[in-house]
Amino acid sequence: MNRVHGIAELRERVAAWRRDGQRVALVPTMGNLHAGHVALVVRARELADRVVASVFVNPLQFGPNEDFGSYPRTLDADAQRLQPVGLDILFAPAVSDMYPRGVAGTTVVKVSGLTETLCGLSRPGHFDGVTTVVSKLFHIVQPDVGVFGEKDWQQLQVIRRMVADLDMPIHVEGLPTVREDDGLAMSSRNGYLSAAERALAPALYAALGAAAERIREGERDYPLVETALAETLETAGFRPDYVQVRRAQDLATPTADERELRILAAAWLGRARLIDNVGVSV
Ligand code: PAJ
Repeated sequence: MNRVHGIAELRERVAAWRRDGQRVALVPTMGNLHAGHVALVVRARELADRVVASVFVNPLQFGPNEDFGSYPRTLDADAQRLQPVGLDILFAPAVSDMYPRGVAGTTVVKVSGLTETLCGLSRPGHFDGVTTVVSKLFHIVQPDVGVFGEKDWQQLQVIRRMVADLDMPIHVEGLPTVREDDGLAMSSRNGYLSAAERALAPALYAALGAAAERIREGERDYPLVETALAETLETAGFRPDYVQVRRAQDLATPTADERELRILAAAWLGRARLIDNVGVSV
């Protein structure tokens, strides 16, 4: 595995693979890698001859009062984690290389509609930062496949939409959420939880599962399901940001005859904002 920092060097290496007719997969991350990220790389390995993972804490997707400064940066440990799974290149560009003219005023890729709900409401500009950096990474690496996690369901749908709308010749592969044994979705931000909060945290997935079960059993009053879920989370010690039952693919408010649903929640526990989601087919 090679660590590459420069954009030009990365392009040269990928171009050499392409000349040999090899398929390339990209796994974009912000580092502080856990088993969820590793699963994406393992899947990428199955889908392509060569795999690039990027580690880049993208300033453009953090709000002014968010955790850009304190986001865990653990590049050496990340490289070690990926050593056994056959990664070809760990691409870790500097902020000054990705945004040479600064973040403010840079050209932005904006997906409309899908980004104006859920996390887009509580984190204004967040998804513009995500789609901008992902399209930059797509242009730099020019992969055949991009691999993303369902843990960030809205992000996955936003990226699929960007790729479709901008005719990017890239297959977007989504992977199920990798969880701790107690159900908590793995996340770099779980490290912000105190021991007591960590013990409470699995209640988020448990509550989503209970709401899904209720729908599977026939409940079609989704606002009722949402209210009950929010109350469960509050009682458990969370401060819910949103709790929503949506149409899975486009995040629209579902009608009673909708078959593919997604229940999505964001909730604060101490200083960690946790997000999670589950699917329900009815
Ligand atoms: P990050 O939070 O590091 O996540 C990188 C990728 O790992 C995303 O596709 C995310 O959905 C996936 N992922 C995170 N936790 C997961 C889990 N428990 N199971 C499965 N997949 C998981 O998401 C980002 O970074 C950034 O927004 C990025 C796309 C890299 C753009 O900066």
